[in-house]
Amino acid sequence: MFYKYIPLALLSESLALENDLALTPPMGWLSWQTFQCNVERKWKQNRLTSDLIKTMGDKIKQFGLDELGYRYVNLDDCWSSVKRTANGRLTVDEERFPSVEKGGVLIDGVKALSDHLHSKGLKFGMYTDVGTATCQRYPSLGPNFTNSDMEQFVNWDVDSLKVDGCNADISDMRRLYTELSSVLKKQTRKILYSCSWPAYQESDHCENPSDMKALQDNCNLWRNYGDVQNDWSSVQAIVDFWARGPSDIMVKAAGPGHWNDPDMLLIGNGFLTRPQERAQFALWAIFAAPLYISCDLRDISEISLEILKNREVIAVNQDSLGSQGYVFQSDDETRTWLRPLSEGRFAVLFQIRKSYLKIQRFELPASDLGWTCFQARDVHKHKTLPPSNTLEVRVGYNIVEMFVLTKSERCDSGSSGANHLTVELGSGL
Ligand code: GLA
Repeated sequence: MFYKYIPLALLSESLALENDLALTPPMGWLSWQTFQCNVERKWKQNRLTSDLIKTMGDKIKQFGLDELGYRYVNLDDCWSSVKRTANGRLTVDEERFPSVEKGGVLIDGVKALSDHLHSKGLKFGMYTDVGTATCQRYPSLGPNFTNSDMEQFVNWDVDSLKVDGCNADISDMRRLYTELSSVLKKQTRKILYSCSWPAYQESDHCENPSDMKALQDNCNLWRNYGDVQNDWSSVQAIVDFWARGPSDIMVKAAGPGHWNDPDMLLIGNGFLTRPQERAQFALWAIFAAPLYISCDLRDISEISLEILKNREVIAVNQDSLGSQGYVFQSDDETRTWLRPLSEGRFAVLFQIRKSYLKIQRFELPASDLGWTCFQARDVHKHKTLPPSNTLEVRVGYNIVEMFVLTKSERCDSGSSGANHLTVELGSGL
């Protein structure tokens, strides 16, 4: 099957949550994929404690990831004690999140962690659930605690809240999430609001206009699909779900302040090969997806770090136009993605869908973008190619290649074939 879409510069059609947050997809680190619910002592140095989270924040600084935009440090499920206090407050285990004395005042463990991250110029994210318990059965908002918990999150100077949807009635989620949005809007602190309700609506993932509008108006981001698992086939399943045309409702829903969230990056956690890590990062850039690292930054490899630090891929992800990329051409073996960028540019990504042992040839004529000539910048090799009227790229073991295309007035003249640019198998990170 071969089909083509006419590339349109897509502008989002919605109102954002209007908290001026996430004007580009948020970037940072999230505890879940690596540290899960490691609450018992047996986890030793991998136990979910404030020291562990502080160390991750310190590593973000040490590697200069914060300067590239990775600023949110997010705690996921299992941070609190199993039970609330007698007066219904959320509390933490003193052993995992010890209080700290400062100037004769005792500061609770969560506030101390929040202060530490803020002192490093980072942001602090937490996790809760609209249902009667979190997915790991820890205290959640439920019907009784929304206002008091929000007050507590504000007192802890929380910058971001991932709100899960376990143990809630699926048909009631839209109401629960939109009501919570109203509560958040009333707070004195602006909190980035990450919703999960499309991920739980397995029948349609909220792919109807009224749900999409509710998501755009009420959430800064939303998880559309099931949890990413520690393997490449899970990433592929997510990519397949994201493979939509330019006028698809999910593609159009993304924009500054409101993003589709395909879940965390697996980069650095040892379950993907180097090309797979490189491919996930490039695809998440095309998706305008939140970039949440979820590996143990104490033992990340140089190669994974280099992938996460690729400024040119990050620039595609963070492009100010905020358009989500879409599938422009596809067949059984290949996909060509386009993402409209600011200043009339495009990012193009050539993806092999199945077997990486067979080399695939992709061709993109400038006329497909309505141009005569373009100049391509290889964001992995960090090389600008001469202007041409056709880009031919061979992709193999690397799974994807990505370029930023700028309209060019003239193509190179001279020797025959100069207008047709061929890029052989690449190797750049
Ligand atoms: C759900 C979410 C995950 C994670 C876990 C925690 O499965 O989708 O991202 O937060 O809950 O229990």
